[in-house]
Amino acid sequence: MSITCPDQRNLHEILALASRAPSVHNTQPWRWRLHGDELRLYADTSRSVPAADPHQRQMVLSLGAALDHLCAAASAYGWGVDVARLPNPNRPDHLATVEFTGRLPILDGHRRRAVAIRERFTDRLPLLPPPAITVSDVTRVTAAQNDTNITALPVSSAPSLAKASQLSASLRRYDINYHDELVWWTRRPVVEHDGIPAAALLTASESERVAVGRDFPVIGGGQPRRPDVESDEATVVVLATRGGTREDLLRCGESLSTLLIEATIAGLSSCTLSHVLESPESTTLISALLEDASVPQIMVRLGVPSHADEKPARSPRRDVDEILSVDR
Ligand SMILES: Cc1cc2nc3c(=O)[nH]c(=O)nc-3n(C[C@H](O)[C@H](O)[C@H](O)COP(=O)(O)O)c2cc1C
Repeated sequence: MSITCPDQRNLHEILALASRAPSVHNTQPWRWRLHGDELRLYADTSRSVPAADPHQRQMVLSLGAALDHLCAAASAYGWGVDVARLPNPNRPDHLATVEFTGRLPILDGHRRRAVAIRERFTDRLPLLPPPAITVSDVTRVTAAQNDTNITALPVSSAPSLAKASQLSASLRRYDINYHDELVWWTRRPVVEHDGIPAAALLTASESERVAVGRDFPVIGGGQPRRPDVESDEATVVVLATRGGTREDLLRCGESLSTLLIEATIAGLSSCTLSHVLESPESTTLISALLEDASVPQIMVRLGVPSHADEKPARSPRRDVDEILSVDR
């Protein structure tokens, strides 16, 4: 291995940090393969969620988030990288190749981003309204470079958002496969290090205070959390693309990652939302809220958590040994 590439210990640290990326139902559908100085990112299609995500759109968004987390993690450990997206037209599961290009100085910004990656979590509880500027300049510029449109919806969109959320829940009411899949990914054995832990879900009374959220299986609970926030006042941000190619989705996932990390740095809580964009009927309601003809791919609630909060435990991640293979 040459000096342009991190050693094994360093690579494990980088991948452990990159693994904090969000993914649909915490499926972590990624595999990394080290080939010389190149790190290749593959989709692990055995971890797809066919009922919620039949076309693997959310899987590719998740892989984009992992790719952006990897680049941020590499810079936090002082490594430069070049990224080639979808480098092999015959292998659509080969999403990207990341080439290490040697040592670079580590800036305070890189360190802050790494801290934010460790701190970020999906916050499904009701949130207080965020400050007026919800989407940072860094996020806007990065998203534009990735051809992702970012729209922070005005408060007046709240009724349409709630309607779209209810519609998507109604359309799933009799969908046995969808509900089986939700139960599978929310009741995972601890040893699997994946799925959404009960502590990250809401009780029935907590979810009543959030108008736009996926109906996960509810948990039992003692004291309601965040009782001072009577109803959710988060701003909903929509990430949209011009088309729906794999590259569009991968880049949109990268933009999602930047948005979430920058929001965490700004002290905001975030909750990624995709349920509303799983049926054409509810997607149409969201498209109507956008000013152009771009295709909504993913949404995020952004807001301020209550000060009284205790930080919940982070959701699990698989060990690096499970997601990394090395070509000899
Ligand atoms: C493509 C994608 C779709 C997601 N959809 C939802 C969703 O509809 N509702 C939700 O509460 N969380 C959603 N999430 C958040 C994941 O459940 C979360 O990232 C995962 O459980 C890991 O937890 P963490 O973000 O707290 O680390 C989504 C994340 C991604 C990347």
